[in-house]
Amino acid sequence: MRIVVLGGTGFLSTWVVRAALARGHEVAAVSRGRRGDPPPGARAVVADRDDAASLARAVASLPGLPDAVVDVCGYTVAGARAAGEVLGRVPRYVYVSSISAYAGWPPGPVPDESAPIFPPTADLADYGPMKAESERVLTAATDGRALLARAGLIVGPGDRTRRLTAWLHRCATQPQVVVPGDADVPVAVVDARDLAEWLVRGAEEGWAGPVNATGPAGMTTFTGLLDACRAAVAATEGSAGVPLPLPDARLLEAGVQPWADLPLWLPRETALTAWAVGTARARELGLASRPVADIVRDTWDWVRALPAGELAHELPASVSALTIRP
Ligand SMILES: NC(=O)c1ccc[n+]([C@@H]2O[C@H](COP(=O)([O-])OP(=O)(O)OC[C@H]3O[C@@H](n4cnc5c(N)ncnc54)[C@H](OP(=O)(O)O)[C@@H]3O)[C@@H](O)[C@H]2O)c1
Repeated sequence: MRIVVLGGTGFLSTWVVRAALARGHEVAAVSRGRRGDPPPGARAVVADRDDAASLARAVASLPGLPDAVVDVCGYTVAGARAAGEVLGRVPRYVYVSSISAYAGWPPGPVPDESAPIFPPTADLADYGPMKAESERVLTAATDGRALLARAGLIVGPGDRTRRLTAWLHRCATQPQVVVPGDADVPVAVVDARDLAEWLVRGAEEGWAGPVNATGPAGMTTFTGLLDACRAAVAATEGSAGVPLPLPDARLLEAGVQPWADLPLWLPRETALTAWAVGTARARELGLASRPVADIVRDTWDWVRALPAGELAHELPASVSALTIRP
């Protein structure tokens, strides 16, 4: 098939390009050209997908209308409208949405895809309502043919968000690693490589409608993720920081911001339901979920191969103040 990937030089979208090429497709990657080239083998096309005229020129430069679109960089409703206008006639359309489109998430739970998403009256400048509205725009533009992949937390090699990599960095550089004491809460993540391959299969098969595209509820816990980080670091560095578990109340009292200061940490009450997203449809459609140990090890290998300190970060003062200095 001839596939247009909107994106192709970032994180998930680069894996989508690689997956599509590996499955024998011809790929054009549309980006604004700010982050270098797409993987070798893909045709690089420069355009702003939020601007219908720019996107139309890019599509006109291709040899005919593509067979499928994988839309990985939908960050505005205008961008959804532009893509709908220019590419809505394409037979297969895969839109990467988010579980943030659900009106009640977090804390959730989200039993399945029938849970309500944000209405058109919500503030469309916010991320979740923007994703919900973009889903509606693209569903209308494709006469219901669009696959709406509601991604959960995406991790893996190439992830520059300093979430999982922050924990790897702390385990590698801190003698003591401040961690939430109530850490046996479930966490679900999806590896970008698993998600990317599945998105391309979705384009091949012409799947439609919403699918919660993340790891199975209960796939790991916060402790499981940290143990995997410590094991990955210890395997290459000989040792890893020792966890310093502190109760949620102590962390909050010290001004530690959930998620921002301790990445991926949500206080227990929220975490118990936030990661309980029903993924039965994704599992039926074969979305893989590789072992957490493999995801973390591969991510650490990727970080270690980057120029020194590229993903390093300062420990937030609120967290640093809690470590016991010898
Ligand atoms: N990361 C998560 O945990 C998470 C969770 C749920 C859902 N999602 C969704 O997953 C998707 C992928 O996220 P990601 O961070 O991995 O994205 P990404 O692949 O890094 O996407 C960025 C890519 O899109 C291009 N791009 C951005 N804006 C563009 C524009 N206006 N016109 C043309 N190209 C544009 C970028 O290149 P240029 O900058 O050069 O244009 C780059 O190639 C997003 O839709 C996000 O909302 C992410």
